[in-house]
Amino acid sequence: MGIEIAGIGSYLPERILTNADLEKIVDTNDEWITTRTGIKERRIAKDGEATSDLAIRAAERALKKAKLKTSDIDAVIVATITPDMFFPSTACFVQKGLGMNSAAVFDISAACSGFIYGLGIARDFLRCGTYKNILLIGAETLSRITDWKDRGTCVLLGDGAGAVILRNSNSDSDILSVYLGADGNSSGLLFMPGGGSRNPATAKTVEDRLHYLKMEGNKLFKVAVRAMADSALKAIDMAGISPNDVTLVIPHQANIRIVEGVAKLMNITLDRVYINIQKYGNTSAATTPIALEEAIYEGKIKKGDIAVLVAFGGGLTWGAAVIKI
Ligand SMILES: CC(C)(COP(=O)(O)OP(=O)(O)OC[C@H]1O[C@@H](n2cnc3c(N)ncnc32)[C@H](O)[C@@H]1OP(=O)(O)O)[C@@H](O)C(=O)NCCC(=O)NCCS
Repeated sequence: MGIEIAGIGSYLPERILTNADLEKIVDTNDEWITTRTGIKERRIAKDGEATSDLAIRAAERALKKAKLKTSDIDAVIVATITPDMFFPSTACFVQKGLGMNSAAVFDISAACSGFIYGLGIARDFLRCGTYKNILLIGAETLSRITDWKDRGTCVLLGDGAGAVILRNSNSDSDILSVYLGADGNSSGLLFMPGGGSRNPATAKTVEDRLHYLKMEGNKLFKVAVRAMADSALKAIDMAGISPNDVTLVIPHQANIRIVEGVAKLMNITLDRVYINIQKYGNTSAATTPIALEEAIYEGKIKKGDIAVLVAFGGGLTWGAAVIKI
């Protein structure tokens, strides 16, 4: 018995922030952003719109595609680093918003790799028979932890959500492999220092701008390329297939140059790599399901095809999954 994506949906906030808009906020320009990152615009959540609001919309679309009712869902997993609150989990707010009154619900924190980590967890729950229909969501409102005075990060990030419903199936579809990795020793390259138990919120932490995402982009760049290519190749190997069997690689969209570097190391041409960074920038855990949904919608992958999902992010964390659609 395999595992299939019974339904998939995504939600991107309506508000578009273009490179031209950013030129008015920080010392940057469209040419720099486009050539160094590949990003042209990103989506920003409305005032008052929280991560769970985006997640709920994506989940509703996935449920509709799967032709399932909320009562059919027995577990909700939300991958996010921008939860509505420290607690309860964002998954609890999703449960409430969807009008569900049972199911196991929890969040996972693995930054941009969160959705891939979630796929590994969901796969094992399904294989063990613990749950039947798992709603897995990647959702972020990175705009809420973006320092709009830091041109090195604010041009990169955006908001969005993507959701899948996974279930056991007699069809050919399956999650063929999941490979996960991390290096906590490099946690200082990408993190948000303020607000947790290390630096609880005070007037001083606010004044010192500690409640914003901090990133050493330059140092991350090389690690990202190597870790994503390694992860993808390991997952391909674990699945017992070769890179030639892969229809489409769906990489995390942090920087077009990282994506190109990964494709080169994997010896895969860019026509077999999905890219939508120009529209949304980096939406962390939401990136993978949003890109997967678009790739399916655009017909770039269809039933029977093999896709490799691969991501890298804060932690540092990384991972890849090989799925047969
Ligand atoms: C962030 C990133 C786009 C920066 O690109 P880069 O080519 O490494 O650029 P650098 O950081 O070396 O900066 C080069 C110059 O551009 C400047 N610069 C940085 N951001 C800029 C911006 N938005 N507009 C214009 N200039 C900018 C820098 O100040 C620097 O100027 P200097 O040489 O006068 O000091 C790139 O490093 C990156 O994408 N890193 C990885 C991101 C990532 O993987 N994140 C984690 C995964 S989720």
